[in-house]
Amino acid sequence: MEQTFIMIKPDGVQRGLIGEIICRFEKKGFTLKGLKMITVDRSFAEKHYQDLSAKPFFNGLVDYIISGPVVAMIWEGKNVVLTGRKIIGATNPAASEPGTIRGDYSIDIGRNVIHGSDSVESANKEAALWFPDGPVNWQSSLHSWIYE
Ligand code: TYD
Repeated sequence: MEQTFIMIKPDGVQRGLIGEIICRFEKKGFTLKGLKMITVDRSFAEKHYQDLSAKPFFNGLVDYIISGPVVAMIWEGKNVVLTGRKIIGATNPAASEPGTIRGDYSIDIGRNVIHGSDSVESANKEAALWFPDGPVNWQSSLHSWIYE
């Protein structure tokens, strides 16, 4: 089953949005397969965002991500990468639809509350970086009530 990496960024943690964000993924029917609260250092944040290292906003982005604890998660389910991105909403909150996490809870692109992997390939890469011991091995007993 497909997995994605989701991170509640430091602003989401500071603003008390952890429960609300977990609730949205949980109620959708996805399964939580990894969860930890962690403050990462600069080199780790640079590694996570290495594909963006040439961008003008890279240093500000790294400063923001290391400014406080984040909540790192692995979520599992059918099409969870793409559907997770839809639940999160567009990168720039000015364009995120109401009803999405960014659309409901953020205003500026540099404080957009949450990260979600943008492809299955990056999901696998990011999950391995953040959870080197792998996901938690368990199965929800609700499986047959969620999938036909
Ligand atoms: P990106 O991977 O393009 O977006 P997403 O998080 O939706 O996958 O960019 C990573 C983060 O970088 C983004 O969530 C917010 C920040 N960012 C800026 O601060 N300024 C920008 O112009 C862009 C494109 C992103």
